[in-house]
Amino acid sequence: MILLVGGEKGGSGKSCLAQNIAVHLTKERDASVMLVDCDPQKTTSDWIQSRHNNADLDYISCVQLFGKVRYELQGFERNYDYVVIDCGGRDSTTLRSALSVATHVLVPMRPKRRDLKTVEHIEDLISTCKMINPNMREAVVMTQCPSLPNQAGRILESKEICRSYGLSVLDSVTFSRNIYDDSEEMGSSVIEQDPKGKAAEEIRSIVSEVMQLQVESEDHGPGRSQENHLKAV
Ligand SMILES: Nc1ncnc2c1ncn2[C@@H]1O[C@H](COP(=O)(O)OP(=O)(O)O)[C@@H](O)[C@H]1O
Ligand SMILES: [Mg+2]
Repeated sequence: MILLVGGEKGGSGKSCLAQNIAVHLTKERDASVMLVDCDPQKTTSDWIQSRHNNADLDYISCVQLFGKVRYELQGFERNYDYVVIDCGGRDSTTLRSALSVATHVLVPMRPKRRDLKTVEHIEDLISTCKMINPNMREAVVMTQCPSLPNQAGRILESKEICRSYGLSVLDSVTFSRNIYDDSEEMGSSVIEQDPKGKAAEEIRSIVSEVMQLQVESEDHGPGRSQENHLKAV
């Protein structure tokens, strides 16, 4: 499995999710994981460095890769149970090259207008990549959701906008919780900080859903009523 966590909006939680997923797979699914940092901002590489300075935390292999990364990723796929890629930033050769071999793509998105405005481009990118990688499975996951009950409608509307572009959306979300921010500071994860906590449960639930994603049918192209949806948010 090559799981690419990507998207173009900074701050949506790509690095955070990639890191927490890598820890979950390593610690709780007893899997071998190669974490690949494809983001020039190097957030995940910095995180792994802090992690490796802490002998109490499980070792996770991590490399930085940029450019035409396809063959390296396929090499890792043969040698590890999971390859998890933090692929942030703008549309790039690296992102497209990784998308050409990814088996699963997870796009974190906050239920906010600025994030939702990127959905159209993401859908376009994914459908283009599916021409050469038709078995790729993809989904959006809503992140940093407000937990106030009166904001629930906003989360549902945001999911609906993504679906209106023909993208699958996970039922699982992450709510806005300080533990995500606090744990990464030490190279740790929500699972290690509070294994019984709600954030740890969110990560497990996201991974379970991603693993159950099916290959989308051919008519990936949406019936585009999105502009109205965007206005509604
Ligand atoms: N569910 C969440 N709740 C609270 N803070 C979060 C959550 N997810 C991510 N964050 C925080 O938001 C910030 C940006 O996340 P990051 O993963 O670096 O985004 P990206 O890689 O998409 O730019 C980080 O400080 C991270 O700890
Ligand atoms: Mg990042």
